[in-house]
Amino acid sequence: MDIKNLLKTLTLDEKIGQLMQLPPFFFIEDIDVEIFGQVKALNLNKKKIFEAGSVLGNNNAEQMIEIQKKYLSQSRHKIPLMFMADVVHGFKTTFPVPLAIAASWQTSLATKAAQIQAKESRTSGIQVTFSPMVDISRDPRWGRIVESFGEDPYLASKFSEATVKGYQGDDVSSDDHVASCVKHFAAYGASEAGRDYNTVDVSHYALHNIYLPSYKAAVDAGVKLVMTSFNTIDAIPATVNKYLLKDILKEQWKFNGVVISDYDSLHQIVAHGVAKNDKEAAFRGIEAGLDIEMASTCYTNNLKALINENKVTEKLVDEAVLNVLKLKKDLGLFEDPFKGANIERQSKIIRCEQHLDVAQQLAEESIVLLKNDEQVLPLNKTLNYVILGPYAETKKTNGAWAGHGDNSLNTTLSDALITKNMHLAFIKSSKKPIYTDEEMKKIKAADQIILALGEDEYESGEAHSKVDIQLPRQQEEFVDFSKSLNKKTIVLLYHGRPFVLTNMMKADAILDVFYLGSRAHQAISNILCGDVNPSGKLPVSYPRHGGLIPLYYNQFSTGRPHEKGVYSEYTSFYLDEENEALFPFGFGLSYARFMYSNLKISKQEINVKDDFIITVDVYNDSDMDGYDIVQCYVQDLVSYYARPTKELIRFEKVWIKAHTKVTIKFKIFAFDLGYYDPKGLRLLEPGEFKFMVGSSSETFDSVSIKLLEDTHHAY
Ligand code: BGC
Repeated sequence: MDIKNLLKTLTLDEKIGQLMQLPPFFFIEDIDVEIFGQVKALNLNKKKIFEAGSVLGNNNAEQMIEIQKKYLSQSRHKIPLMFMADVVHGFKTTFPVPLAIAASWQTSLATKAAQIQAKESRTSGIQVTFSPMVDISRDPRWGRIVESFGEDPYLASKFSEATVKGYQGDDVSSDDHVASCVKHFAAYGASEAGRDYNTVDVSHYALHNIYLPSYKAAVDAGVKLVMTSFNTIDAIPATVNKYLLKDILKEQWKFNGVVISDYDSLHQIVAHGVAKNDKEAAFRGIEAGLDIEMASTCYTNNLKALINENKVTEKLVDEAVLNVLKLKKDLGLFEDPFKGANIERQSKIIRCEQHLDVAQQLAEESIVLLKNDEQVLPLNKTLNYVILGPYAETKKTNGAWAGHGDNSLNTTLSDALITKNMHLAFIKSSKKPIYTDEEMKKIKAADQIILALGEDEYESGEAHSKVDIQLPRQQEEFVDFSKSLNKKTIVLLYHGRPFVLTNMMKADAILDVFYLGSRAHQAISNILCGDVNPSGKLPVSYPRHGGLIPLYYNQFSTGRPHEKGVYSEYTSFYLDEENEALFPFGFGLSYARFMYSNLKISKQEINVKDDFIITVDVYNDSDMDGYDIVQCYVQDLVSYYARPTKELIRFEKVWIKAHTKVTIKFKIFAFDLGYYDPKGLRLLEPGEFKFMVGSSSETFDSVSIKLLEDTHHAY
């Protein structure tokens, strides 16, 4: 299909239609009946609806085929609709929530999960997924932290790249792949005070070094679409922000795919107070480089008038339409408007065993063991256990943004443990530790208590921010209750955000199980019973007090650095709490014990084109095989702009057999030691760099290197 020629055959209305995205019900409902509902509110009519370019949300191949057929039978130009949906961490096979996926530090599994999501989606008539979400978040109050890969630009970038590649493969037109839409551009995760949709006000230095790299990683991996965010950057909503969309995305990063707004976000610039009405919003959107408008109708209802009044050139509209047509072509829709949608294949592959097995493997690798005093875990098959707490019987392990998944198909923890022949007593789940005499008898008869605590799956996600990230008092009472009975206490934490766990530290063990998807409890029981060794590490810092927020490991030194545990007035510290996280970024225990030694660097001095190798030996000093995640952090000791005291630069998840040693090699290029100035130019300055290697962001040995030259420096 020659899309440039096709463009020439379209009327202006038809071109503008390609830039509109509507939910599927517009095409299914009887429009004449609906004329008083949404259709009227958006000032739409049948003609405009059947000129729309794409659909938001779809459930199955049958629905897609019905809509596409109906659309094509009514549209003059016969350009197929494109179907997009939020397949964020699973279609029907639900994988762990993205925050948990990041805790696996296993990017190859994230790719596999994305491949499966793509296959299930494409077969069900979806050609574009609104994923990955790569907003860096340093604030656990923000409910959408659950959808993110955490606080670190490097880790998030690795997952960003891995998922985009998994979704898209080498050919997005294939029946096994979908186009990926990275979101939300940009810095949505920096919403002030963690309140969703709130103002974002970050420095350009932080924008380029902290917030932008994970989107850039997606662009470099060939992502086909970019979704704008709801927030402002420099007081201009991202959806109409020329600096973001033109200067950075299109010019600096050479992105030539589709830019799509978030839900209604073009219309919402009126509420932001930067446009008087939808017409001004349309003007600002098209001028800034926004192609598709999702779920609002500023373009559809106003672009034509703006062109007729010579306020907008038709060339701008043509550029946007060409981007949309190119994506349709890449997806193979011109050859076959139903490409991929397959009712028969759907019933064979959706939620098949093979897919569920990958979901389980990823779930197992995502679980983080936070505490394990006196090796209370793994559980002991000769002991009796009882599971208490609000989530004791839960099957709701899919988490936010898993709309196509079905919690009722999931297994409970007790069912999963019983298949492993564990001795369990049954008590109904409850919000408070208040029990009948009979229940008390059962509880007392147990040797140890498992507490299923946390928050409900819909307490995190979009528009689900919280001011208090302490677990509810009643849940802490469960720990007190269990300890008052002198029982070893194992806490399972179901959640979508970091919690302040300071008051839970009386528990003997804490296992962080997030929301792990379709096979959550099979994975959790494998870990609990020791059939799988825990290997996840935190992708985000867990504060010891809510007042520490925002808290992140890659901080600056400040001019008055505080030394942990040393009281010195007029240094940067709190009178009433320690500065450090309760559980730091990169932290997670194993049933094995890993010892680090022999840290070496291959060179003492380098030039800008050089590379060098850092090696370290890791010994598994235990009887159990397992993964460790070896982490390498860097500090640029002296630079024009202040640099963080440590920043993740490499990591490797490595399987180490019991009582054996492996040598880990990190190859680093001088170029990797650079950073961005506030204009987004990469600086590489000479001087000394310190490398810290260890099993979390707080345990290491270090070596140094000197960079002798620079490429570009700030002074
Ligand atoms: C969310 C996006 C999502 C879109 C479409 C918005 O409210 O912010 O993440 O992709 O809806 O469902």
